[in-house]
Amino acid sequence: MLDLVVRNAVLPDGRDGMTIGCENGRIVALTHEPVTDARRAIDARGCLASPPFVDAHFHMDSTLTYGRPRVNRSGTLLEGIELWGELKPSLTHDEIRARAVELCRWAVARGTLAIRSHVDVCDPSLRAVKALLEVRGLVKGEIDLQLVAFPQDGFLRSPVGETGLTAALDLGVDVVGGIPHFERTMADGAASVERLCRIAADRGLLVDMHCDETDDPLSRNVEVLAREAIRHGLQGRVVGSHLTAMHSMDNYYVSKLIPLMHEAAMTAVANPLINITLQGRHDSYPKRRGMTRVKELLAAGVNVACGHDCVMDPWYPLGSHDMLDVAHMGLHVGHMTGDAEMRAMFDCVTVNAARALHLDGYGLAPGCWADMVLLQAESAVDAIRLRPARLAVIRRGRVIAETPRAVPTVQLAGETAEVTFHIKRHSTRSG
Ligand code: FE2
Repeated sequence: MLDLVVRNAVLPDGRDGMTIGCENGRIVALTHEPVTDARRAIDARGCLASPPFVDAHFHMDSTLTYGRPRVNRSGTLLEGIELWGELKPSLTHDEIRARAVELCRWAVARGTLAIRSHVDVCDPSLRAVKALLEVRGLVKGEIDLQLVAFPQDGFLRSPVGETGLTAALDLGVDVVGGIPHFERTMADGAASVERLCRIAADRGLLVDMHCDETDDPLSRNVEVLAREAIRHGLQGRVVGSHLTAMHSMDNYYVSKLIPLMHEAAMTAVANPLINITLQGRHDSYPKRRGMTRVKELLAAGVNVACGHDCVMDPWYPLGSHDMLDVAHMGLHVGHMTGDAEMRAMFDCVTVNAARALHLDGYGLAPGCWADMVLLQAESAVDAIRLRPARLAVIRRGRVIAETPRAVPTVQLAGETAEVTFHIKRHSTRSG
């Protein structure tokens, strides 16, 4: 007898009437045939079953601090960095852990079961690193939490950048981070990328750097990151996060850069909610959008994933950790309203992000982990359009979050009707 079956589901690739059978934490059947013998059965009633959402880029140490010690009045990146600097000394282990665990609850409620979080290592006490390592263990039954050693104040620029980063890795942080555009010069940025890729290669770790998060069209760190990935044999193991300068770069230069990124098998991570609000702040009109070239990178075969980046912190006052908000914004900012483009945006918050994180056993196929989210939507594009209820969130074959189906009842023009937010197909009669 199976542990769980989900019946009558639509998959993101459009297959409908599917039954998903789960046993011992794995998917063991994906079929059109009815499977009757199970301890628990869920009738999806034609709704979408998707592999869980994956957040490829987040900051768990600063999340849910909005308003402390004061709100960001200008809404800019620089005031956010200033505020974070003021807030950092007052943070405690228990308080960081409590906020992070609460954020994980929000994530699970929204169907996100893997998060890559950067953690600031420019603090001699490594308070946030230790708290988030504890959280990684606490939530491992529900969420795959990957941590990136992130030298927020600069790997070379901060006096504790290098020592903090290596100490964090020694404590068990998973991924090597960086912030080359924040080093003092472009040469220092390149030097930091070279050093950090060497550290990753020596330790056998993945790399994920904040890279060229600026509107400067001449910011050139991503080409160094691609070159170092190739030089150290780190192809497929390196992520360039934000890459907002690519929005402003000369087209001829980008025509050389994107093939180089492809050669390095890099993943590009866009953070649409944050890029659209923080970039272009020095512009009058027209104002640049600041999101990296998602459409062109995808067309060139580069893996592109998306992150939420922030939820209610010094840089972003909004958010509920919903990766469908991220896909929705990315689709709009990137002019990605073509049918295949909208579906590609869904991939950016699911399969592409899972590839960036090197998640093991991810997907809806026999042999994969029995992890999925059931949404009150008819397709992947419908899910982005409606950002609907996550009816069930399943981890290792166990339902860990549920939200009731929502169908508003409206009284209008003398009639009472249920609203499903789908186009009604009116039959036409002739004769
Ligand atoms: Fe970030």
